[in-house]
Amino acid sequence: MQDKSFLMIPGPTPVPESVLVELARHPIGHRSKEFSDIFMSCIEDLKWLGKTKNSDVFIYTASGTGAMEAAIANSLSPGDKVLSLVIGVFGKRFSQIAQTFGANVEIISAEPGKVIAPNTLEQRLAEDKNKEIKIVTVTHSETSTGAANDLEKMGKIVKAHGALLIVDAVTSLGCMNLEIDNWGLDIVISGSQKGFMIPPGLSFIYVSQKAWDFYKRSKCPKFYWDFGKQKKSLDEQTTPFTPNVSFICSLKKAFEMMKNEGLENLIKRHDRLKNRLRAGLKELGLNLLTEDKDASAAITAIYPPEGVSVPDIRAAYKKDWDITVANGQDTLKDKIFRVGHLGFVSDRDIEMTLTVTEKVIKKLSANNLQLTAGKK
Ligand SMILES: Cc1ncc(COP(=O)(O)O)c(C=O)c1O
Repeated sequence: MQDKSFLMIPGPTPVPESVLVELARHPIGHRSKEFSDIFMSCIEDLKWLGKTKNSDVFIYTASGTGAMEAAIANSLSPGDKVLSLVIGVFGKRFSQIAQTFGANVEIISAEPGKVIAPNTLEQRLAEDKNKEIKIVTVTHSETSTGAANDLEKMGKIVKAHGALLIVDAVTSLGCMNLEIDNWGLDIVISGSQKGFMIPPGLSFIYVSQKAWDFYKRSKCPKFYWDFGKQKKSLDEQTTPFTPNVSFICSLKKAFEMMKNEGLENLIKRHDRLKNRLRAGLKELGLNLLTEDKDASAAITAIYPPEGVSVPDIRAAYKKDWDITVANGQDTLKDKIFRVGHLGFVSDRDIEMTLTVTEKVIKKLSANNLQLTAGKK
Protein backbone atom coordinates (compact mmCIF):
# COMPACT_ATOMS: atom_id res chain seq x y z
CA MET A 1 0.00 0.00 0.00
CA GLN A 2 1.34 3.42 -0.91
CA ASP A 3 2.98 5.45 1.92
CA LYS A 4 2.75 2.54 4.36
CA SER A 5 6.41 1.61 4.05
CA PHE A 6 8.04 1.36 7.46
CA LEU A 7 11.73 1.62 8.26
CA MET A 8 13.11 -0.48 11.09
CA ILE A 9 16.73 -0.02 10.02
CA PRO A 10 19.41 1.79 12.01
CA GLY A 11 19.23 4.86 9.79
CA PRO A 12 17.72 6.53 7.95
CA THR A 13 15.00 6.34 10.58
CA PRO A 14 11.31 7.32 10.35
CA VAL A 15 10.62 11.07 10.23
CA PRO A 16 7.70 12.60 12.20
CA GLU A 17 4.99 14.38 10.21
CA SER A 18 5.67 17.80 11.78
CA VAL A 19 9.31 17.50 10.73
CA LEU A 20 8.32 16.48 7.18
CA VAL A 21 6.02 19.51 6.94
CA GLU A 22 8.93 21.75 7.92
CA LEU A 23 11.04 20.20 5.15
CA ALA A 24 8.37 21.05 2.60
CA ARG A 25 8.48 24.81 3.28
CA HIS A 26 10.13 27.24 0.93
CA PRO A 27 13.75 27.84 2.06
CA ILE A 28 14.54 31.10 3.87
CA GLY A 29 17.68 33.17 3.32
CA HIS A 30 20.63 31.75 5.21
CA ARG A 31 22.01 35.17 6.12
CA SER A 32 18.68 36.40 7.52
CA LYS A 33 18.04 37.09 11.21
CA GLU A 34 15.18 34.59 11.01
CA PHE A 35 17.53 31.78 9.97
CA SER A 36 20.25 32.86 12.36
CA ASP A 37 17.83 32.51 15.30
CA ILE A 38 16.77 29.02 14.17
CA PHE A 39 20.40 27.99 13.64
CA MET A 40 21.52 29.24 17.05
CA SER A 41 18.62 27.52 18.80
CA CYS A 42 19.77 24.23 17.18
CA ILE A 43 23.31 24.87 18.43
CA GLU A 44 21.99 25.38 21.98
CA ASP A 45 19.82 22.26 21.71
CA LEU A 46 22.80 20.22 20.50
CA LYS A 47 24.66 21.30 23.65
CA TRP A 48 21.66 20.25 25.73
CA LEU A 49 21.59 16.83 24.06
CA GLY A 50 25.32 16.22 24.51
CA LYS A 51 25.29 17.59 28.07
CA THR A 52 28.02 20.11 27.39
CA LYS A 53 28.64 23.71 28.29
CA ASN A 54 32.35 23.71 27.45
CA SER A 55 32.41 22.40 23.86
CA ASP A 56 31.76 24.27 20.64
CA VAL A 57 29.26 22.61 18.31
CA PHE A 58 29.26 22.81 14.53
CA ILE A 59 26.77 21.59 11.97
CA TYR A 60 28.11 20.34 8.63
CA THR A 61 26.05 19.77 5.51
CA ALA A 62 27.45 16.25 5.18
CA SER A 63 26.70 12.72 6.27
CA GLY A 64 28.27 11.32 9.44
CA THR A 65 31.43 10.25 7.65
CA GLY A 66 32.09 13.89 6.76
CA ALA A 67 32.17 14.75 10.47
CA MET A 68 34.46 11.75 11.09
CA GLU A 69 36.87 13.12 8.50
CA ALA A 70 36.58 16.61 9.99
CA ALA A 71 37.47 15.22 13.42
CA ILE A 72 40.69 13.69 12.10
CA ALA A 73 41.67 16.49 9.71
CA ASN A 74 41.40 19.09 12.48
CA SER A 75 43.32 17.26 15.19
CA LEU A 76 45.96 15.10 13.50
CA SER A 77 49.40 15.74 12.07
CA PRO A 78 50.76 13.13 9.62
CA GLY A 79 52.90 10.61 11.51
CA ASP A 80 50.94 10.95 14.77
CA LYS A 81 50.12 7.70 16.50
CA VAL A 82 46.40 6.96 16.65
CA LEU A 83 44.90 4.14 18.68
CA SER A 84 41.64 2.97 17.07
CA LEU A 85 39.22 0.85 19.05
CA VAL A 86 37.45 -1.26 16.46
CA ILE A 87 34.36 -3.31 17.23
CA GLY A 88 32.85 -3.22 13.76
CA VAL A 89 32.55 -1.49 10.41
CA PHE A 90 32.36 2.05 11.75
CA GLY A 91 35.23 1.72 14.19
CA LYS A 92 37.29 0.42 11.26
CA ARG A 93 36.22 3.43 9.19
CA PHE A 94 37.79 5.80 11.74
CA SER A 95 41.07 3.90 11.51
CA GLN A 96 40.93 4.11 7.70
CA ILE A 97 40.30 7.86 7.74
CA ALA A 98 43.21 8.35 10.15
CA GLN A 99 45.43 6.25 7.86
CA THR A 100 44.32 8.29 4.86
CA PHE A 101 45.56 11.43 6.62
CA GLY A 102 48.94 9.84 7.34
CA ALA A 103 48.48 8.59 10.90
CA ASN A 104 50.42 5.70 12.31
CA VAL A 105 47.41 3.64 13.35
CA GLU A 106 47.33 0.89 15.95
CA ILE A 107 44.11 -1.09 16.28
CA ILE A 108 42.61 -2.85 19.26
CA SER A 109 39.69 -4.91 18.01
CA ALA A 110 37.02 -7.20 19.40
CA GLU A 111 35.05 -10.08 17.88
CA PRO A 112 31.78 -9.06 16.17
CA GLY A 113 29.16 -8.33 18.83
CA LYS A 114 31.72 -7.82 21.60
CA VAL A 115 33.05 -4.58 23.07
CA ILE A 116 36.54 -3.48 24.12
CA ALA A 117 37.02 -3.96 27.85
CA PRO A 118 37.99 -0.63 29.45
CA ASN A 119 40.82 -2.49 31.24
CA THR A 120 42.35 -3.44 27.89
CA LEU A 121 42.45 0.23 26.91
CA GLU A 122 43.81 1.21 30.31
CA GLN A 123 46.62 -1.33 30.07
CA ARG A 124 47.62 -0.25 26.58
CA LEU A 125 47.71 3.41 27.58
CA ALA A 126 49.66 2.59 30.75
CA GLU A 127 52.35 0.98 28.53
CA ASP A 128 52.61 4.18 26.51
CA LYS A 129 55.12 5.78 28.87
CA ASN A 130 56.47 8.21 26.27
CA LYS A 131 52.97 9.39 25.39
CA GLU A 132 53.36 8.42 21.75
CA ILE A 133 49.63 7.84 21.35
CA LYS A 134 48.16 11.22 20.48
CA ILE A 135 44.60 10.30 19.58
CA VAL A 136 42.18 7.51 20.52
CA THR A 137 39.13 6.86 18.31
CA VAL A 138 36.14 4.91 19.58
CA THR A 139 32.62 4.08 18.46
CA HIS A 140 30.01 4.45 21.19
CA SER A 141 27.20 2.41 19.59
CA GLU A 142 28.57 0.21 16.79
CA THR A 143 25.75 0.11 14.24
CA SER A 144 27.11 -2.92 12.39
CA THR A 145 26.81 -5.17 15.46
CA GLY A 146 24.56 -3.44 18.01
CA ALA A 147 27.28 -3.43 20.67
CA ALA A 148 27.98 -0.35 22.79
CA ASN A 149 31.33 0.48 24.38
CA ASP A 150 31.50 1.78 27.95
CA LEU A 151 32.22 5.36 26.97
CA GLU A 152 32.08 6.80 30.46
CA LYS A 153 34.93 4.57 31.67
CA MET A 154 36.89 5.01 28.45
CA GLY A 155 36.58 8.79 28.64
CA LYS A 156 38.09 8.86 32.09
CA ILE A 157 40.91 6.48 31.13
CA VAL A 158 41.93 8.48 28.04
CA LYS A 159 41.73 11.75 29.96
CA ALA A 160 44.15 10.39 32.58
CA HIS A 161 46.62 9.49 29.81
CA GLY A 162 46.32 12.83 28.01
CA ALA A 163 45.50 11.66 24.47
CA LEU A 164 42.63 13.21 22.55
CA LEU A 165 39.46 11.12 22.58
CA ILE A 166 37.41 11.19 19.36
CA VAL A 167 33.99 9.56 19.67
CA ASP A 168 31.61 8.32 17.01
CA ALA A 169 28.20 8.86 18.57
CA VAL A 170 26.26 8.53 15.31
CA THR A 171 23.77 5.99 16.69
CA SER A 172 24.05 6.86 20.36
CA LEU A 173 23.47 10.60 20.64
CA GLY A 174 19.79 11.17 21.39
CA CYS A 175 19.33 7.49 22.26
CA MET A 176 21.82 6.72 25.01
CA ASN A 177 23.18 8.79 27.86
CA LEU A 178 26.27 10.66 26.74
CA GLU A 179 27.91 13.31 28.92
CA ILE A 180 30.53 15.19 26.96
CA ASP A 181 31.85 17.38 29.77
CA ASN A 182 31.60 14.90 32.65
CA TRP A 183 33.12 12.01 30.73
CA GLY A 184 35.95 14.05 29.19
CA LEU A 185 35.00 13.48 25.52
CA ASP A 186 37.06 15.74 23.25
CA ILE A 187 35.51 15.46 19.82
CA VAL A 188 32.10 13.84 19.40
CA ILE A 189 30.39 13.37 16.07
CA SER A 190 26.85 12.39 15.10
CA GLY A 191 24.46 12.37 12.13
CA SER A 192 20.94 13.61 11.43
CA GLN A 193 19.37 10.39 10.10
CA LYS A 194 19.51 8.57 13.44
CA GLY A 195 18.19 9.67 16.84
CA PHE A 196 17.59 13.17 15.47
CA MET A 197 14.54 12.01 13.47
CA ILE A 198 15.35 13.97 10.33
CA PRO A 199 16.63 12.61 6.99
CA PRO A 200 20.33 12.02 6.18
CA GLY A 201 22.36 15.08 5.26
CA LEU A 202 23.55 16.89 8.39
CA SER A 203 26.32 15.95 10.74
CA PHE A 204 27.19 17.41 14.11
CA ILE A 205 30.55 17.82 15.77
CA TYR A 206 31.42 18.84 19.32
CA VAL A 207 34.87 20.32 19.91
CA SER A 208 36.32 20.60 23.43
CA GLN A 209 38.94 23.11 24.58
CA LYS A 210 41.57 20.34 24.48
CA ALA A 211 40.57 19.60 20.88
CA TRP A 212 41.30 23.24 20.07
CA ASP A 213 44.88 22.76 21.34
CA PHE A 214 45.23 19.82 18.95
CA TYR A 215 43.68 21.90 16.17
CA LYS A 216 46.35 24.57 16.61
CA ARG A 217 49.12 21.98 16.18
CA SER A 218 47.40 19.95 13.44
CA LYS A 219 49.13 19.91 10.06
CA CYS A 220 46.54 18.05 7.99
CA PRO A 221 45.08 19.97 5.05
CA LYS A 222 41.50 21.15 5.47
CA PHE A 223 39.22 23.72 3.93
CA TYR A 224 35.52 22.79 4.06
CA TRP A 225 36.05 20.92 7.32
CA ASP A 226 38.20 23.60 8.98
CA PHE A 227 37.05 24.12 12.60
CA GLY A 228 38.55 27.62 12.53
CA LYS A 229 36.21 28.73 9.75
CA GLN A 230 33.26 27.17 11.58
CA LYS A 231 34.12 28.90 14.84
CA LYS A 232 34.61 32.32 13.26
CA SER A 233 31.18 32.08 11.62
CA LEU A 234 29.51 30.63 14.69
CA ASP A 235 30.69 33.62 16.73
CA GLU A 236 28.77 35.71 14.18
CA GLN A 237 25.74 33.38 14.53
CA THR A 238 26.09 32.05 11.01
CA THR A 239 27.86 29.37 8.92
CA PRO A 240 30.93 29.69 6.67
CA PHE A 241 29.19 28.08 3.68
CA THR A 242 25.57 27.74 2.53
CA PRO A 243 23.92 25.45 5.08
CA ASN A 244 21.06 23.10 4.34
CA VAL A 245 18.45 25.63 5.47
CA SER A 246 15.49 23.26 5.19
CA PHE A 247 17.16 20.56 7.24
CA ILE A 248 18.17 22.98 9.96
CA CYS A 249 14.57 24.25 10.17
CA SER A 250 13.39 20.64 10.42
CA LEU A 251 16.02 19.96 13.08
CA LYS A 252 14.54 22.75 15.19
CA LYS A 253 11.17 21.00 14.96
CA ALA A 254 12.71 17.67 15.93
CA PHE A 255 14.39 19.32 18.93
CA GLU A 256 11.02 20.72 20.05
CA MET A 257 9.74 17.14 20.14
CA MET A 258 12.82 15.90 21.98
CA LYS A 259 12.61 18.67 24.56
CA ASN A 260 8.89 18.05 25.11
CA GLU A 261 9.72 14.43 25.85
CA GLY A 262 12.69 15.40 28.02
CA LEU A 263 16.23 14.05 27.85
CA GLU A 264 15.82 11.55 30.64
CA ASN A 265 12.59 10.18 29.13
CA LEU A 266 14.17 10.03 25.69
CA ILE A 267 16.95 7.83 27.01
CA LYS A 268 14.54 5.75 29.11
CA ARG A 269 12.33 5.17 26.05
CA HIS A 270 15.23 3.86 23.97
CA ASP A 271 16.30 1.62 26.82
CA ARG A 272 12.77 0.29 27.26
CA LEU A 273 12.35 -0.38 23.52
CA LYS A 274 15.67 -2.21 23.40
CA ASN A 275 14.78 -4.36 26.43
CA ARG A 276 11.32 -5.23 25.11
CA LEU A 277 12.62 -6.09 21.65
CA ARG A 278 15.43 -8.26 22.98
CA ALA A 279 13.12 -10.10 25.40
CA GLY A 280 10.49 -10.64 22.69
CA LEU A 281 13.02 -11.94 20.18
CA LYS A 282 14.45 -14.34 22.73
CA GLU A 283 10.90 -15.58 23.49
CA LEU A 284 10.61 -16.38 19.78
CA GLY A 285 13.71 -18.55 20.15
CA LEU A 286 16.00 -16.22 18.23
CA ASN A 287 19.64 -15.71 19.16
CA LEU A 288 21.09 -12.20 19.41
CA LEU A 289 24.62 -11.19 18.44
CA THR A 290 25.35 -9.10 21.54
CA GLU A 291 24.99 -9.94 25.19
CA ASP A 292 22.47 -7.87 27.17
CA LYS A 293 25.23 -6.07 29.08
CA ASP A 294 26.87 -4.80 25.87
CA ALA A 295 23.68 -4.01 23.94
CA SER A 296 23.22 -0.68 22.19
CA ALA A 297 19.88 1.02 22.84
CA ALA A 298 19.63 1.90 19.14
CA ILE A 299 20.01 -1.32 17.19
CA THR A 300 19.72 -5.08 17.67
CA ALA A 301 21.48 -7.70 15.54
CA ILE A 302 19.72 -11.04 15.25
CA TYR A 303 20.82 -14.45 13.94
CA PRO A 304 18.34 -16.10 11.57
CA PRO A 305 16.81 -19.39 12.77
CA GLU A 306 18.47 -22.58 11.57
CA GLY A 307 17.87 -23.20 7.86
CA VAL A 308 16.37 -19.76 7.13
CA SER A 309 18.38 -17.23 5.13
CA VAL A 310 18.77 -13.54 5.95
CA PRO A 311 17.81 -12.43 2.40
CA ASP A 312 14.59 -14.49 2.68
CA ILE A 313 13.80 -12.94 6.06
CA ARG A 314 14.34 -9.42 4.75
CA ALA A 315 12.30 -10.15 1.62
CA ALA A 316 9.39 -11.49 3.69
CA TYR A 317 9.35 -8.45 5.99
CA LYS A 318 9.32 -6.22 2.92
CA LYS A 319 6.98 -8.13 0.61
CA ASP A 320 4.40 -9.30 3.15
CA TRP A 321 4.54 -6.40 5.63
CA ASP A 322 6.27 -3.45 3.95
CA ILE A 323 8.81 -3.30 6.75
CA THR A 324 12.49 -2.81 5.98
CA VAL A 325 15.07 -4.42 8.25
CA ALA A 326 18.81 -4.26 7.56
CA ASN A 327 21.22 -6.96 6.50
CA GLY A 328 24.53 -7.50 8.30
CA GLN A 329 27.51 -5.58 6.97
CA ASP A 330 30.95 -6.71 5.84
CA THR A 331 31.77 -10.14 7.36
CA LEU A 332 28.30 -10.28 8.93
CA LYS A 333 26.47 -9.87 5.60
CA ASP A 334 23.76 -12.57 5.31
CA LYS A 335 24.79 -13.89 8.74
CA ILE A 336 22.61 -11.56 10.83
CA PHE A 337 19.81 -9.09 10.27
CA ARG A 338 19.53 -5.81 12.11
CA VAL A 339 16.54 -3.97 13.53
CA GLY A 340 16.92 -0.28 14.30
CA HIS A 341 14.90 1.16 17.19
CA LEU A 342 16.14 4.71 17.41
CA GLY A 343 14.59 8.10 16.93
CA PHE A 344 10.89 8.29 16.05
CA VAL A 345 10.10 4.80 17.34
CA SER A 346 7.42 3.93 19.89
CA ASP A 347 6.42 0.93 22.00
CA ARG A 348 3.74 0.19 19.40
CA ASP A 349 6.39 -0.09 16.67
CA ILE A 350 8.30 -2.64 18.73
CA GLU A 351 5.18 -4.75 19.39
CA MET A 352 4.37 -4.63 15.68
CA THR A 353 7.91 -5.64 14.75
CA LEU A 354 7.79 -8.57 17.17
CA THR A 355 4.44 -9.77 15.83
CA VAL A 356 5.68 -9.51 12.26
CA THR A 357 8.95 -11.24 13.15
CA GLU A 358 6.99 -14.16 14.58
CA LYS A 359 4.92 -14.46 11.41
CA VAL A 360 7.94 -14.15 9.13
CA ILE A 361 9.92 -16.76 11.03
CA LYS A 362 6.99 -19.19 11.23
CA LYS A 363 6.30 -18.88 7.51
CA LEU A 364 9.92 -19.31 6.45
CA SER A 365 10.54 -22.15 8.91
CA ALA A 366 7.42 -23.95 7.61
CA ASN A 367 8.61 -23.45 4.01
CA ASN A 368 11.95 -24.81 5.03
CA LEU A 369 10.37 -27.90 6.65
CA GLN A 370 8.31 -28.56 3.51
CA LEU A 371 11.39 -28.23 1.34
CA THR A 372 13.37 -30.59 3.54
CA ALA A 373 10.47 -33.08 3.61
CA GLY A 374 10.16 -32.84 -0.21
CA LYS A 375 13.83 -33.71 -0.63
CA LYS A 376 13.53 -36.89 1.49
C1 LIG B 1 28.16 4.38 14.06
C2 LIG B 1 28.20 5.03 12.72
N1 LIG B 1 29.25 5.78 12.40
C3 LIG B 1 29.36 6.38 11.22
C4 LIG B 1 28.38 6.26 10.27
C5 LIG B 1 28.56 6.91 8.94
O1 LIG B 1 27.57 7.85 8.74
P1 LIG B 1 27.10 8.23 7.26
O2 LIG B 1 26.62 6.98 6.60
O3 LIG B 1 25.99 9.20 7.59
O4 LIG B 1 28.24 8.85 6.57
C6 LIG B 1 27.25 5.48 10.53
C7 LIG B 1 26.18 5.30 9.53
O5 LIG B 1 25.35 4.44 9.63
C8 LIG B 1 27.16 4.86 11.80
O6 LIG B 1 26.10 4.12 12.12
